[in-house]
Amino acid sequence: MADVLEAVKVSRSFDVSKPWLQRMLSRSGRRSLRAVDEVSFSIPKGTTLSLVGESGCGKSTVARLAVGLYPPSSGDIRFEGQSLSSARAQPALRRRMNMIFQDPYASLNPRWRVQDIVAEPLRAFGMLRGSAVGDRVGQLLSQVGLSPADGAKYPHEFSGGQRQRISIARALSSEPDFLVCDEPTSALDVSVQAQILNLMRELQTRLGLTYLFISHNLSVIRHMSDRLGVMYLGRIVEHGPAEAIFTEPRHPYTRLLLDAIPDLDAAGGVGRVRAGVGGEVPSPIAPPPGCTFHPRCPLANDRCRVERPDYTQAGPVEVACHAVEEGRG
Ligand SMILES: Nc1ncnc2c1ncn2[C@@H]1O[C@H](COP(=O)(O)OP(=O)(O)O)[C@@H](O)[C@H]1O
Ligand SMILES: [Mg+2]
Repeated sequence: MADVLEAVKVSRSFDVSKPWLQRMLSRSGRRSLRAVDEVSFSIPKGTTLSLVGESGCGKSTVARLAVGLYPPSSGDIRFEGQSLSSARAQPALRRRMNMIFQDPYASLNPRWRVQDIVAEPLRAFGMLRGSAVGDRVGQLLSQVGLSPADGAKYPHEFSGGQRQRISIARALSSEPDFLVCDEPTSALDVSVQAQILNLMRELQTRLGLTYLFISHNLSVIRHMSDRLGVMYLGRIVEHGPAEAIFTEPRHPYTRLLLDAIPDLDAAGGVGRVRAGVGGEVPSPIAPPPGCTFHPRCPLANDRCRVERPDYTQAGPVEVACHAVEEGRG
């Protein structure tokens, strides 16, 4: 199936020198933080690619790159084969992608009625006018399990889950093909999370949507993904069919992450947390040399401390790990 979105060796750095210094320092003298490091992936139409990883590993930066909110420092993002950088000004492409954010409280304007929030993209893109707007808003609200009458209310009259439904209605209003969902349920109660995730899957099937789905929660990821990328310090360290990674994780980091899932089926009791990933994530301003995971890796050897691993194919997945490549993973 054709790819809707493709990232080709995309990197993104931020200048993190003190603002008053930025003007005085030469480019090479500035402190730079590489938030995303040569990330490549492609997402076939109608499928979900998920990204998982600890806080600060670059997930939200990839999300913003994927919808063109940030330009890449290097590499390219393509939507149906068209580079986002060449099409930055094209509203036609803008309309076809949208983003759902984590916090349904911060992302909805509290002073606007729901109908105006949902209609805003329609108006911005000049898609509909007059009474057609109201009809479409009613339809969108029904589609996400709310009632057309809810359009007259304000965001504060809704629960967190309902607000996220409003965000989804808004994101769908311009009839996008591609949605980036950045931790869309992380701010919600567990019981509500499942309802929103199910709604998103249902909408995906009904509307043929393509998702880039981001979460730090592997149980949520498992529920949503066709393919999965595991990120560590800006890099995708393991990438492949989600089920293959869950059944047989190859990268030592993925294994430790999977071990940290609350083990719901364990005889030891609900919510028992297994070992988890020991140690702290190093600062992305001064990442460790070689494989950036080596300080926390139980399999690290001298090569890992100096040489950055390339991708190795291991069954259906790609893994950036010397130990896997050498057959000692
Ligand atoms: N605008 C920015 N300016 C400077 N640093 C940033 C900016 N956005 C993100 N970062 C840094 O980039 C890294 C990745 O951040 P982010 O993409 O938000 O990760 P995640 O979503 O996985 O938690 C972090 O170290 C973060 O501090
Ligand atoms: Mg984030």
